[in-house]
Amino acid sequence: MSPPPRKLVAGNWKMNGLDDALAEALELARELTARPPNCRVALCPPATLVHRLHEALRGGAIEVGAQTCHAETSGAYTGEVSAEMLRDAGAHLVILGHSERRTYAGETNEDVSRKVLAALRAGLEPVVCVGETLAQREAGEAFDVVGGQMDGSLPEALQGRRFALAYEPVWAIGTGLTPAIDDIEAMHAFIRSRLDERFSTSSAPILYGGSVNPKNAAAILGAREVGGALVGGASLRAEDFLPIVRAE
Ligand code: PGA
Repeated sequence: MSPPPRKLVAGNWKMNGLDDALAEALELARELTARPPNCRVALCPPATLVHRLHEALRGGAIEVGAQTCHAETSGAYTGEVSAEMLRDAGAHLVILGHSERRTYAGETNEDVSRKVLAALRAGLEPVVCVGETLAQREAGEAFDVVGGQMDGSLPEALQGRRFALAYEPVWAIGTGLTPAIDDIEAMHAFIRSRLDERFSTSSAPILYGGSVNPKNAAAILGAREVGGALVGGASLRAEDFLPIVRAE
């Protein structure tokens, strides 16, 4: 059996980052060049910074990703950015189906599935997000919700392709709350078995996301079936993100 893939620790800058954010990324890059990380490291800035970050980080240990893409290649879709454009700008990954996009942009599982196809077409590695709300967890529906999101958001075309899943309980995002390690492990085991059923050869890492910080990162990254972390707020500053990367 081949060894498990290296974990992936990805920063999701969301709608944050102007010119001075490049300095944070460069500081992180310097640290990781001096002492290479044990995991893959990615930064997903807003679309405006993808190309500049790609140029600034060229040849280093940090991969650049985007936060969404349109399903079509090009055309009359004012305001949209295609997967091909993001690849052209230097992105290698793309976060898809983040709960903020599902909530604020009304993205459905079907939309996410089409975007996954676009990412694969363009040569971007999709990082597909799933996760339940607090009401759903309290109603005992967390596994059904996540299973349904996986069924709807992951097209068959992922078979044999490189991709990642991110389990992000909605109630843990930006709140400082995290599930108990046992609950993370239970959900990740469920996601793994569901992936195994559908994608026989998949070794896709299953990231955990939601209030990961320098204090809880080691415990979370050390949990069974946790293949990395998707980090929001704590990825904006090198001094917060670096200890999370180093926790692996
Ligand atoms: P957070 O966000 O780390 O700020 O909770 C995580 C995410 O939304 O990916």
